[in-house]
Amino acid sequence: MSLPYTKKVLDHFMHPHNVGKIENPDASATEGSPACGDMVKLYLKVNEKTQIIEDIKFESYGCASNIATGSIITDLARGKTLEEAKTLNWKSAADALGGLPAVKVHCAVLAVDALRTAIENYEHQHGLLKEKTPTTRTVVLRRLSKVINPLAGLDVVKTKLVKKVEVENHKVTVYVELPSDHQFANNVRNEIEERIEPLWDVNQVKVIFTKQ
Ligand code: FES
Repeated sequence: MSLPYTKKVLDHFMHPHNVGKIENPDASATEGSPACGDMVKLYLKVNEKTQIIEDIKFESYGCASNIATGSIITDLARGKTLEEAKTLNWKSAADALGGLPAVKVHCAVLAVDALRTAIENYEHQHGLLKEKTPTTRTVVLRRLSKVINPLAGLDVVKTKLVKKVEVENHKVTVYVELPSDHQFANNVRNEIEERIEPLWDVNQVKVIFTKQ
C-alpha cells in the first residue's frame, strides 16, 4: 500500500534541509518514538543574548515522514527565539508539509518532541527555567520513557529494561537489566546519560548493568 504523500513531503524527504550534526552544540536531544521505534537527534546553536536559534540540524534514523518532518521543523525553528520555537507543534509541521497521512502523525510528533527537548535542555543548562523543579525518580522515568530499548523497539521503562532508578544528592543511578558487554550496552548507556545529564540539578549520572 502506498501512502498519499504530498509533493512537499516527498521534496523534503528526497532533499532534506538541515541534515547533519553540529559540533559543540549549545543543546541537543535524541527522541525515540514508542509508536514505531524510530529515532531523531536534533542539535541547536543559540545566541545567548537574543535567544535566537542561529543554527539547527538533525539526524534521522527513521521513515520518510521522520526525515520530512525533521527537515520542515528545523526550517520553521531557524531564526526564531526559543519562546517562539516552543509554540511549534506537530500541526505546524504537518501544515507546512501540506498535510501528513494520519498514520504518520507520530513522525511529526517525534520531530517536534526532539525540538522541545533540545530547547528544554538548553533552558536547564543556561539557568532559564521559570520553575526549577527538583529532579525526582518520576522526572527521570519520564525522560527515560523516550529512550528506545533496541531489543524491543519500545521504551526502556515499559519494557522493564530499566530495573531501578535512584536519585540522591544530585546523583542519578539507573540500573539496566543487560550484561555490560552486551552489544547494545554502550548505546543504551549513552542515551540514558544524554537524557538525564542536562537536568539543571544533576551532577552525575551512573548507569549500572545488572545482568551477568
Ligand atoms: Fe517511525 Fe515515522 S514511522 S518516525
